[in-house]
Amino acid sequence: MPKIEINSGVKVLDVSKGTVLIDALNDAGIFVPSACGSTGKCGLCKVKIVKGNYRFDSATIEKITVEQRNAGMHLSCQVKVNEDIGIEIHPEYLSAQQFKSRLRKKRFLTNDIVELTLEMVSPSSISFKPGQYILLKSKPYDNNKMVMRPFSIASSTALNSVIQLNIRLNPSGICTPWIFNHLQEGQEVEFNGPRGAFFIRNTLYPMVFIAGGSGIAPVRSILHTMRDYNIDREGILFFGALTQKDLFYVEEMMELEGRLKGFKYIPALSNELTESDWSGERGLITEVVDRYLGDNISQYEAYLCGKPAMINACISVLEKKKIFKENLLFDLFNEARQPTKTEISENKTSVQT
Ligand SMILES: Cc1cc2nc3c(=O)[nH]c(=O)nc-3n(C[C@H](O)[C@H](O)[C@H](O)COP(=O)(O)OP(=O)(O)OC[C@H]3O[C@@H](n4cnc5c(N)ncnc54)[C@H](O)[C@@H]3O)c2cc1C
Ligand code: FES
Repeated sequence: MPKIEINSGVKVLDVSKGTVLIDALNDAGIFVPSACGSTGKCGLCKVKIVKGNYRFDSATIEKITVEQRNAGMHLSCQVKVNEDIGIEIHPEYLSAQQFKSRLRKKRFLTNDIVELTLEMVSPSSISFKPGQYILLKSKPYDNNKMVMRPFSIASSTALNSVIQLNIRLNPSGICTPWIFNHLQEGQEVEFNGPRGAFFIRNTLYPMVFIAGGSGIAPVRSILHTMRDYNIDREGILFFGALTQKDLFYVEEMMELEGRLKGFKYIPALSNELTESDWSGERGLITEVVDRYLGDNISQYEAYLCGKPAMINACISVLEKKKIFKENLLFDLFNEARQPTKTEISENKTSVQT
């Protein structure tokens, strides 16, 4: 029976020969993020293999940069464990706590984004950093087995007996159709976490937030936490949507403008009919950000969250305006990290989320 040695022996698993690495980890309660049904398409499930010989297949090559490959990174959904293997994973994957909660409220924000309010049951409270995410467990339904999917916390850290999530329906997915079509108020919801490095930094730099769709979630958590703890920092939020019917939390954001000194909210619509009554910003979020911010934003910290194409296009704009790389945090609904040069140059499209 092959062994999986994790983080130099912090944990050792005995698994049957041929088990897929991500499944072996999941069975042991270690949940590596994944969002493509283990098809090698999302690139989220990377782990570093430090012992054992594994070749790269085409899926792995496409999702892992040359630098990552040279460092031993692999997609855990594409690795079959046939011999003893040593891997390194983020320590938070081993320490993430399990939570049981109850769905108090399910509220539609738009036709494809829902707000869940989860009341903590066991343990009865949660502590997290504003901007972090959890892994939510769906229940088996139809022919789909249970899956764990990442969703950012959208509420303030001051509210530790309740968390809120903003979830966009992915009609061809597993977890979000379960949330939209099966999950009922009053039902138990399990998750683990909190996780992630996309959280507000302890500085006094002015902040630029850029979000699209349900990417508002971690930004909302940061803003609500700032409100609840009276944190005064200059900030500007650009929120991109297609049309007025895709906007949500508008009144709430306008109220925050009054409560948070130096906070400004700029919703921008890219597909609104010219003849409509919309008097706010129009155009791609990249164009609006470019128009609004001066040529030199080197004193700013930037927090970007949403679909990869939109985020990468915005990063190019911010870099043109001389933002420092170390002040640029983004959540591609992926791990928060600095972008590589290759990622930025490969994604120069201006796509609205
Ligand atoms: C850190 C982080 C935070 C996030 N926060 C949020 C948030 O706050 N709100 C939010 O809405 N989203 C968030 N996301 C994105 C969310 O986790 C993904 O959209 C997730 O995949 C949705 O789960 P799902 O089970 O519905 O879709 P999945 O089942 O994961 O499907 C995703 C895609 O993969 C394809 N796929 C799935 N299974 C298969 C298969 N067997 N064969 C072929 N293709 C397949 C589907 O066609 C679909 O398009 C976050 C992601 C990350 C990484
Ligand atoms: S789970 Fe998506 S690439 Fe492995």
